[in-house]
Amino acid sequence: MGKTTSVANIAAALAGAGLRVVVVDLDPQAHLTIHLGLEPETVESGSYKVLTQSAKFEEAILLVRPHLWLLPANINLVGAESELVSVVGRETILREAMRSVEDKFDYSIIDCPPSLGLLALNGLAAADEVLIPLQPHFLALQGFGKLLQTIQLVNKRINPALKVGGILMCMFDRRASLPNEVKADIENFLNNARGTNCAWAEAEVLPIYIRRNIKLAEAPGYGKTIFEYEQNCHGAEDYRKVAELIHNQLQAATEPNIQPAVAGESQDRPCVATGLLSQPDSQTSCSEPTQTSPTHRESDKPESQ
Ligand SMILES: Nc1ncnc2c1ncn2[C@@H]1O[C@H](COP(=O)(O)OP(=O)(O)OP(=O)(O)O)[C@@H](O)[C@H]1O
Ligand SMILES: [Mg+2]
Repeated sequence: MGKTTSVANIAAALAGAGLRVVVVDLDPQAHLTIHLGLEPETVESGSYKVLTQSAKFEEAILLVRPHLWLLPANINLVGAESELVSVVGRETILREAMRSVEDKFDYSIIDCPPSLGLLALNGLAAADEVLIPLQPHFLALQGFGKLLQTIQLVNKRINPALKVGGILMCMFDRRASLPNEVKADIENFLNNARGTNCAWAEAEVLPIYIRRNIKLAEAPGYGKTIFEYEQNCHGAEDYRKVAELIHNQLQAATEPNIQPAVAGESQDRPCVATGLLSQPDSQTSCSEPTQTSPTHRESDKPESQ
C-alpha cells in the first residue's frame, strides 16, 4: 500500500530538484498515469506497446513535468501477459527496452502492479533496487514475507543484481503502538539477515516515515503531485525528505573516495521498482518474518495537516 503514491511523489521531488527522472507505469489500472494528470484512454503508446515490442521505450515516454518523463499505462496492459506467453525472454523485455536510455536519466522508477505476474516480473527484472512501501497494519508482515520470497526468486533466476534497498513506512502513526511493533519486527528481521546472501541483507527501514495525510489521497484525483496540490502539508514534507534521503544515500554510495564508480555500472543510474505483494511460486532458503499479533488496529483518523 502506497506504491503509486510513493513513485509519483518521490519522482516529482527528485525532478523538482533538477534531476532527470523517468517513471514507468506497469499497472493496467494506470493509477500512476492518472496521478500525473493523463487520461489512460488517450495513451496511444506506453508500457503495453513497449512490452509487446511494437514501440521503443524512448519513443513511448512523455515529458509530463520539467525533468520528469512517464511511460504511461492503459487497460491494454491486461492483455500483455497472455499475448507474450510464447515469447522467449518475456520477463526481461522492459530491461532490454530501457538499456538504450539508462544514461539519459538520473533515476528510473517503476511502479509495479499489485499482483505477481509477467508485468511485475518485468519491473523486478529491470530494477537494481526495490523500495518497499509498507503500511504497518496487522497483516503487513504476512504480505511482506511473501514479497521477499518473490524478490529472492527473481534475484536467483532473472536478476542477480536485484536487492531490497529500503522499507518505507507509509500511513505511519507513531502515536499508535502497532505500527511501532511492526517496524520493530521488520528491523529485527532485517538485522538477522545481515551478512547473508539474501537480497535484503543490506536493507533498512528508512528513518523517514510517510504520515497518513488526506492531501496525499486527494492529489491524484486532480492529476497533481503533492507538491502541486498542497506543498506545505505533511505529505509533501515527508516525500521531500524521502527523496533527499534517497539521493544523499546514492551520492554517498557513488562518492569516488568511498567506492570508485565503474563506467556503465548500473548503480550510477539507479532503477528502482516499488514493491508488490504477491504469492511466490516456490520457497527460498531465506527465512521470512513472523506476523505481529493483531492486538491493535491502526487508527483511521488522519493526522492533522
Ligand atoms: N500517506 C497516505 N495518507 C493517506 N492516504 C494515502 C497515503 N498513501 C497513499 N494513500 C492513499 O491510499 C490509497 C492506496 O495508495 P496507492 O495507490 O499509492 O497504493 P498502491 O500500493 O499503489 O496500490 P495498488 O497495489 O492498488 O497499486 C490511494 O487512495 C492513496 O491516495
Ligand atoms: Mg498502485
